[in-house]
Amino acid sequence: MRSWPSTAVALGADYNPEQWPEDVWAQDVARMQEAGLSFATVGVFSWSLLEPAPGVYTFDWLDRVLDLLHDGGIAVDLATATASPPPWFSHAHPETLPVDHDGRTRWPGSRQSWCPSSPVFTAAATRLTEQMARRYHDHPALALWHVSNEYGCHNAPCYCDTCAAGFRAWLGKTYGDTDALNDAWGTAFWSQRYTDLAQVQPPRRSTADSNPTQVLDYRRYTSDALLAQLQAEVSVLRVHSPGVGVTTNFMTMDSFRHLDYTRWTSSVDVVSTDHYVIGALADPQAELSFAADLTRGLAGGTPWLLMEHSSSAVNWQPVNRAKTPGQLLRHSLTHVARGADTLGFFQWRQSRAGSEKFHSALLPHAGTRSKIWHDVLELGRATRALGEVLGSRVEAEVALLWDYEAGWALQAPSHPSAEVTYGEVAHDLHAALRRAGVTVDIVGPHASLEGYRVVLVPTLYLTDTETLGALATAADAGAQVLLTYFTGVVDASDHLRADPVTGDGWSPEVATLTGTRTLEHAPLLTDEQITLDGLLAGAATRWTEWVDVSESTEVLARTVDGPTAGAAALTRRSTGSGAAWYLATRPAAAGFDALLARICADAAVRPVAVASPGVELVRRRSDRGSWVFAVNHTDASVQVAVSGRELLTDTVVDGLTVGAGAVAVVREG
Ligand code: GAL
Repeated sequence: MRSWPSTAVALGADYNPEQWPEDVWAQDVARMQEAGLSFATVGVFSWSLLEPAPGVYTFDWLDRVLDLLHDGGIAVDLATATASPPPWFSHAHPETLPVDHDGRTRWPGSRQSWCPSSPVFTAAATRLTEQMARRYHDHPALALWHVSNEYGCHNAPCYCDTCAAGFRAWLGKTYGDTDALNDAWGTAFWSQRYTDLAQVQPPRRSTADSNPTQVLDYRRYTSDALLAQLQAEVSVLRVHSPGVGVTTNFMTMDSFRHLDYTRWTSSVDVVSTDHYVIGALADPQAELSFAADLTRGLAGGTPWLLMEHSSSAVNWQPVNRAKTPGQLLRHSLTHVARGADTLGFFQWRQSRAGSEKFHSALLPHAGTRSKIWHDVLELGRATRALGEVLGSRVEAEVALLWDYEAGWALQAPSHPSAEVTYGEVAHDLHAALRRAGVTVDIVGPHASLEGYRVVLVPTLYLTDTETLGALATAADAGAQVLLTYFTGVVDASDHLRADPVTGDGWSPEVATLTGTRTLEHAPLLTDEQITLDGLLAGAATRWTEWVDVSESTEVLARTVDGPTAGAAALTRRSTGSGAAWYLATRPAAAGFDALLARICADAAVRPVAVASPGVELVRRRSDRGSWVFAVNHTDASVQVAVSGRELLTDTVVDGLTVGAGAVAVVREG
């Protein structure tokens, strides 16, 4: 498989030369060389220029771009250019425009205005993909195919008639007949029984909440429909450009959950993702670290590619924070610490016109006499010093289960609390371990848990017998397994796992594993705080429950006040050579810290190194050695107990000092 040169952590960027007069291009390539770029992603939004009229192709300008990049030693991640169809296409095929929940057409004029189910779109996109592949498959600059762009970013879910028909076909394949569909959707409720699939609609806006299983299936259908679009283009590339890898940029940021990427990874050769820091979050860098760990999980632990991030501010948040000095290096190297071997940016040269002219780029409007360019050159030097970490893997003894479907089901309406959102407790747990210097692998619900000393299961509302069985096996085999509230409640059809007729409580398997039987949920109001005692002493929010604790189960914290005063908030049950823990509320950060300190102590999981607070630590390892990444997020220098050669300064250290806001990478030994 082709790739770009790999003696350094590769740097690259989306390059949109069509936004500039041709005489700027040579200057671009010279500057890319100066910045140390190895690759450029070209053509993502070029469809309207490459095919200005149906079946009329104008590749000459792209030929010149690819030649120029190749002559400059810059490899190309070549887009199939199908992300956004040209106006002539939408004008000729209005039936391909997406439709929203309320039945309103999403008109063209921005980007990605195409319906995920449209066969007319697939035909046009694969036609262009074939032309691109035939023309460029043997171009020496071509290193990777970039299929479409951020599938589902703007056009999913779509509720048009084409999607309705596609959904019915998907349901036919999934359920066979309406009897099975009626059972799965629980249509005995609210007089929803179907007698013909033709009667089924997408969950368009209705008078009251739509059937939750219908909503869940529509999420599955939408993810599958977009996956089919990816696969259609990939099949064309396999035929006309064999031997060249393919990728599509996922979005593992917390704000994007439309697609079940665990089902997408086998369709690409390289897992790549985009990440933008969300300024309004309480701890934006903690979210960055989470997204990086999630991407590594999708890549099965192998190095992955960060396709896009930003040199400084974006332009699509209400207030767009510029990166402060040092932040670009910290953000970029956190991705590398957590498994990225390649760092891409949106975009190379800041746009002069259009929606993204205020979005930062590697080459800003202020040119090379600017803070951004200075930071970019600094990043280039750092990535060149890190060549030896390429191919190594991140070391982690803790797994956190992440399941997109569980998230979809949890976010459905009509639940005990709309404020219990998927990911909240996952982030709490991840953030606490990150503060403690412990690395977490974020893995899919069916990943092997073998070898993990701690397994964290945050709000896995929807799950199956297989996953619950694997958790019991992991605990018996010695792991500390923590389940948090609202886990194991429903099956794949969003039906209660418990048999209410037998009065089993809310989740029989969770009760058996943890020794804690939930009797009733008692969520807290938005600003309501309660007090906990014991190991979690301090405040808690969001959720409590009345639980029945078996005799063989220890209670390590209780609620002191609030609706469930006196109820168990944290329990632990020994099983085999491990233990199963149950957390029935959402403690404050200090409570999570105490909980995870105790679990890690029981599991003999230690931090990457002993260090001052505020420094983020990750270890990568290969058969060539091990490297500790230390990212100092504080404004004072910190100490880390590691020794070896620090690669960014090329000095030997015996006990590391990392300056305020700086990053260090130490090859140990
Ligand atoms: C991504 C997209 C890029 C650019 C970027 C801005 O969603 O792929 O084309 O728009 O965001 O942050």
